[in-house]
Amino acid sequence: MAILEIITYPDPLLAKPCREVTELDEDLARLVRDMGETLYAKSGLGLAAVQVGDDRRVLVYDVSEERDGSEMGVLVNPRIVATEGQVVSENEGCLSVPEYRADVNRYEQVRVEGLDPEGRPVCLDADDLLAIVLQHEIDHLEGVLFIDRISSLKRELYKRRVKKRLKREEEEA
Ligand code: NI
Repeated sequence: MAILEIITYPDPLLAKPCREVTELDEDLARLVRDMGETLYAKSGLGLAAVQVGDDRRVLVYDVSEERDGSEMGVLVNPRIVATEGQVVSENEGCLSVPEYRADVNRYEQVRVEGLDPEGRPVCLDADDLLAIVLQHEIDHLEGVLFIDRISSLKRELYKRRVKKRLKREEEEA
């Protein structure tokens, strides 16, 4: 197992729609194991494969208290098939958008269909935190970050901040 490196905004890979998983093979199983280890190492609630530089439609999540790995969920080729209600996800964050948080409008409940890593169909009705985490991770698979769902003014401020930081790092290098 390995803790994988997380790519961050503005890496262009994060803005690209991911591709369907067609091979449920040992390579996919290894990716899922490494993503799980990375999820806990980075204290994330969810992680999409693209965040570790792999453009397959795979995500892992764990919103349990214990966070001991026993309740980690894995979804392959997930999609939202039904939604209900609206909620403000307060102070949402992302491992790929470091040092930034913002309120994001989300659905209150979602039904998600997909596959488990062995190819068995999964149907999940989620609410509360899990609903938000799943929407956030499925957004990643479409090349969408939570900063794409905030006001353009806030987004521009954030982008400017990142640009400044990158410039500063370049000058120091
Ligand atoms: Ni994220």
